[in-house]
Amino acid sequence: MSTPIIELTNIQVHFQQKEKLIKSVDDVSLTINQGDIYGIVGYSGAGKSTLVRVINLLQKPTAGQVTVSGDVLFEKNDQTTHELAAAELRTKRRKIGMIFQHFNLLNEQTALQNVAFALKHSKLNESARLQKAEHLLELVDLTDQKDQFPAQLSGGQQQRVAIARALANDPEILISDEATSALDPKNTNQILDLLKDLNAKLGVTIVLITHEMEAVKRIANKVAVMENGQIIERGDLLDIFTNAAEPFTRELVGSQNASETALDILTHYT
Ligand SMILES: Nc1ncnc2c1ncn2[C@@H]1O[C@H](COP(=O)(O)OP(=O)(O)OP(=O)(O)O)[C@@H](O)[C@H]1O
Ligand SMILES: [Mg+2]
Repeated sequence: MSTPIIELTNIQVHFQQKEKLIKSVDDVSLTINQGDIYGIVGYSGAGKSTLVRVINLLQKPTAGQVTVSGDVLFEKNDQTTHELAAAELRTKRRKIGMIFQHFNLLNEQTALQNVAFALKHSKLNESARLQKAEHLLELVDLTDQKDQFPAQLSGGQQQRVAIARALANDPEILISDEATSALDPKNTNQILDLLKDLNAKLGVTIVLITHEMEAVKRIANKVAVMENGQIIERGDLLDIFTNAAEPFTRELVGSQNASETALDILTHYT
C-alpha cells in the first residue's frame, strides 16, 4: 500500500535577477510515498536543491501547493494564498531532517553534544536528551567516537554525526542533499548503506538528491530526473535504468548495458 507523504503540486520557484527571470523550478509536481527512497538526479543547476528546499519551505515557492503528511503547509495560486504561522511551521519542520554535503557541525562541541543540541526544543530533560543522543549515535555506529570533536573525526564519521542529529526529533522524512559528495567511494557507499538501513529500521522516508546515478542505483526505489527546473522523467528504479525514454536520462545512466544494470539492481534488493 502506498501512502503519499510529500505532495508537491505545480511548484514554481522564480527569481528575478535584474532583467532576467530565472525559473529554478518550473511547474513541478511530485508525489513521494511513505517509506520511499526517492532519488532526484540531474546536473548542477538543474534545480534539485531549490525543489527540495520547498518541501520544508526553506524556499517559499512563487506558486504551487506543498502538502506533507496530509497537511497543506503552503498554497499559492491566482485565487488563494495559504501559509502556516511561523511557530506552526517550525514544529512541522522538525519532522523533516536534512543532511548536506558540508556537515555543518558545531566545531566546539563533541559528537554527543552536537546531536543533543538538536533536542534543545524538545520536552526532554538534560539527561534524557543525552541518553537519546547516545542512542542515536549507536544507531549510526559511532558510540566509540561520541566524545570526539568534529576535527577529530573523518568525513564519513562527521556525516554520521550529522545523520544522528537529523534524526533527533524523530523525523518522518530525511532529505539528503549531496550528502556523500565530499566523501571517497568507500565512505560514500557506507553512508548510502546506512541511509538504506535507517529507512528499513525506522521507516523514515528518504529524499536523495545527487548528481551520481550510482548512489541512486545503490539504494533508491524511485527516481526523478531534473533538467532546467523540470522533471523530465520519473519512475521505478529498474524502469529508469533499463527503459529510459529520454536521451538525457540514458546519458546519466551511462554506458552499462541494460541487462547488466538490471542484474546489479536486483542483487541490491535481495
Ligand atoms: N536565491 C537565488 N537567486 C537566484 N537564483 C537562484 C537562487 N537559488 C538558486 N538559483 C538558481 O536556480 C538554479 C537551480 O539551482 P539549484 O541550486 O537548485 O541547482 P542544483 O540542481 O541543486 O545544482 P547543484 O547540483 O550544483 O547543487 C540555478 O541556476 C541557480 O543559480
Ligand atoms: Mg544543489
